[in-house]
Amino acid sequence: MNELIRGLLFLPEQLSEHARAVDQLHFFIITTTMVAAAGVFATAIYFFVRYRRRSETDVTPHVTPTAIHEVLFIGVPLFFFLLWFAIGFPLYVNLQSPPPGAMDVYVQGKKWMWKFAYPGGPNSLDVLRVPAGRPVRLLITSRDVIHSFFAPALRLKQDALPGRYTQTWFTADRPGTYEIFCAEFCGIGHSAMLGRLVVMPADEFDAWLAEQRRGLAQAQDAAPGPGEAVLSASNLVAEGQRVAAAQGCLKCHSVDGSRHIGPTWVDLYLRREKLKGGEIVVVDEAYLTKSMMDPGAQLVDGYQNVMPTFQGKLSPPEAAAIVEYIKSLKTPAVRSGPSEGPAYESIPRK
Ligand code: CUA
Repeated sequence: MNELIRGLLFLPEQLSEHARAVDQLHFFIITTTMVAAAGVFATAIYFFVRYRRRSETDVTPHVTPTAIHEVLFIGVPLFFFLLWFAIGFPLYVNLQSPPPGAMDVYVQGKKWMWKFAYPGGPNSLDVLRVPAGRPVRLLITSRDVIHSFFAPALRLKQDALPGRYTQTWFTADRPGTYEIFCAEFCGIGHSAMLGRLVVMPADEFDAWLAEQRRGLAQAQDAAPGPGEAVLSASNLVAEGQRVAAAQGCLKCHSVDGSRHIGPTWVDLYLRREKLKGGEIVVVDEAYLTKSMMDPGAQLVDGYQNVMPTFQGKLSPPEAAAIVEYIKSLKTPAVRSGPSEGPAYESIPRK
């Protein structure tokens, strides 16, 4: 049945559990609405004939629907819409909740190409290699305008925003080569902004990654240039430390846990911070990058809004390097911040 409807709708193959679940909901909605539309159409045709005007003196009677009709008209559509919500919402939550231990890949959209970078190297252009059967988390950003990462076989689409990291994740079922598109009109090269998703058997992927990193280690003597080449440096953390010092971040943020002009970076990642308005946020990649680009937007309670924006000053790879640096600043035993247990389940714990 699944294959039949998929074929009828010309949909690409389903590469993940998520893709199958999305399709099932899609098929359910489309079948229900088609049946309802056919019913409405058939009723209309029947009424045209049954209640046609038979003579010049015919008067259309005024019909008032009974309570039971009202209940059916409102209740039946409402039931289906709520049912679709009840099925779709857990799917959405799942999509926002990468499993712990997922492999991170940084994705950068740029007019008009996709760049992929693995922490620890290597990086690649337009080709995203992932292992089959293992969860992969994508941290997505853009260097210029809004793009949208779209992998039809995974039923996955996520906007790539300049100055922000958005995330999504997937576990690809089986090896093969699949398409990656940009799904946000981003200029004249939009339709050519194509990528390939290459799913490899897990052991082959491990061998490929090790091989790539050996090559990078040998090429280490060649110092990485600023910005562009940063992600190919085998150590994002060291690069983040360098950029943070060069940009003056460390004049206000301590890396020893002490309070300064801004919050300390030690144990900052995944900390629950209270904002000025009393709202609690979890410091994840999205919050960190947002705070670099728009520092006043979600100000931590007890601090002044004095940080300048780094929008345009930090390239996406530099912002990513600083995020990785902040993530590395952990005290093993001591946990700072309110200890109310895990923030919420969807935040991956390292
Ligand atoms: Cu990038 Cu469309």
